[in-house]
Amino acid sequence: MKVCIIGGGGRVGASAAFALQCGGVVAEIQLLDANSTQAEGEALDLLHGAALAADQRLYAADYSRAADSDLFVITAGLRRQPDESRLDLLRRNVALFLQILDRLKAANLRPEAQVLVVSNPVDVLTQLAFRYLGLPWHQVYGLGTLLDSARLSSLIAEQLRLAPTQVKALVLGEHGDSMVPIWSSATVQGLPLSSLPQCTPSFQTAIFDRTKGSGAQVIRLKGGAGWAVALAIRDVVHAVALDQHRLLPVSSLLQGAYDLRDICLSVPTVMGRRGLERHLELKLWPKEITGLQNSARALRNTLTQLPARD
Ligand code: 2OP
Repeated sequence: MKVCIIGGGGRVGASAAFALQCGGVVAEIQLLDANSTQAEGEALDLLHGAALAADQRLYAADYSRAADSDLFVITAGLRRQPDESRLDLLRRNVALFLQILDRLKAANLRPEAQVLVVSNPVDVLTQLAFRYLGLPWHQVYGLGTLLDSARLSSLIAEQLRLAPTQVKALVLGEHGDSMVPIWSSATVQGLPLSSLPQCTPSFQTAIFDRTKGSGAQVIRLKGGAGWAVALAIRDVVHAVALDQHRLLPVSSLLQGAYDLRDICLSVPTVMGRRGLERHLELKLWPKEITGLQNSARALRNTLTQLPARD
């Protein structure tokens, strides 16, 4: 499988390329960036490690070389300022994102090409990508709250001194201020987290607040996310490459799950070789469903602020 990372010269894109190199699953990784020199440098640095990593083709090139890609990962975009919400970032990122979509449309993509949107605000940009690219529903999706779910699970494990890979705590809805923690299904090795005495309502509130603020905190400390978002991207790419039928909280156009339609946000989604397979409407607490509806409302409101375009 060939993956083309649009924004591959940036921190998120280059980190994602490294995660895919370490994973050794995909056969070909192309880095594409408006800053072609930066992309060439990242590709060369990755290439130097190939003999220690995996038998893949790694290079930097432009859109003409990208046309045969199976999966495009779009990480390009301006970074949020620490005090800026993802939706505020929208106005600055939409113009750049639409240029990328135009280049993709002109690149004569393969009919089965898939697009994973990472750029923020990811839910709104995923909806834009779906609208403008004309690809089938199952081929356009966004990283959504997979990164938030990883952060929540990792922070719970750190706080409760548990094995991070055994903690499964979902975040759904918007990858943004209205994201929803799903405590109803949070587990450690299959056992309900709520059964742990330490997992009190105040613990849950505190750890979720830390999760929600993680993106801005990483921006304040180091200028922006890289490693964790790269691992989240890797999980989506590998679910497709290996046809894993994996349940992931990724962003896609809702088709009726939780009575939500025609809006992109994250619900439990099974992913495999064709991309999105189906939404799984897992049973949620009433307040969690209300949270999803709030996310949908916030995102619809933002969509109305998008500049009109033909
Ligand atoms: C974050 O939350 C990049 O949106 C991503 O850090």
